Amino acid sequence: MQTVQDVPALRAAVRGWRAQGQTVGLVPTMGNLHAGHHSLIKLARARADRVVASVFVNPTQFGPNEDFERYPRTLAQDQAGLAEHGCDLLFAPEVATMYPFGAAHGVSIHVPQVTDTLEGAHRPGHFDGVATVVCKLFNLVQPDLAVFGQKDYQQLKVIERMVRDLSLPVKVLAAPTQRADDGLALSSRNQYLSAAERALAPQIHATLVQMRELVGKGHARRIVEEAAHSKLERAGFVPDYVVIRRAEDLSEPADGEREGLVALVAARLGATRLIDNLPFD
Ligand code: PAF
Repeated sequence: MQTVQDVPALRAAVRGWRAQGQTVGLVPTMGNLHAGHHSLIKLARARADRVVASVFVNPTQFGPNEDFERYPRTLAQDQAGLAEHGCDLLFAPEVATMYPFGAAHGVSIHVPQVTDTLEGAHRPGHFDGVATVVCKLFNLVQPDLAVFGQKDYQQLKVIERMVRDLSLPVKVLAAPTQRADDGLALSSRNQYLSAAERALAPQIHATLVQMRELVGKGHARRIVEEAAHSKLERAGFVPDYVVIRRAEDLSEPADGEREGLVALVAARLGATRLIDNLPFD
């Protein structure tokens, strides 16, 4: 596997593959890769002739009090894992390569509506940063397809909408959330958890499963949301939201609506903020 930091080297590699008629899949990441990321590489590998992964801790998607500085940077380990899982090229740019006018002064992409709620409401500007960097990566790599994890469900919806609205010639593929044996969704942020917090963390997934069961049995959505919120609070979480939404666009379902739903949770456990979701279908 080749690792490149600059745009001419990236473009030269992709041009070479294209000249041979090969298709290209992109897996954008912020590094500190785990089995969840490797499953995205595997999906890209199955659907494209060549696979490019990017590792870039994107400053514009972090809020002022978030973990940009301490976000784990583990490039050597990431390279080994990517090579092992069949990635052809790693693009690991510097901030100045991605933001030639500086991170605070570049063009910014805002995807409306689907960003107004949930993560968008709790992390102002987060999705502008995500949409902007993903659009830049699409322009740089010009992949046929790109793979994103369902773990970041709202992010997936934001990218799907950006691709459709800007007519970007990229097929967006969603990869299922990878979980530990006890149900905790794999995330780079899990390593921030203390042993006691790690033992509690699977309750988020258990709660999502219970929400799906209760809605399936005909319980009213709002009652299910409130009960799940209280249950997590009692267990020691500080939830930002515990909700059931339309899976398509995250809008609020009407009373009695039962098809095409997803439950989503964001909750703090100590200093760590965890998110997870469960599509009902
Ligand atoms: O999901 C992530 O790791 C990031 O938000 C992404 C898509 C790589 C953009 O920086």
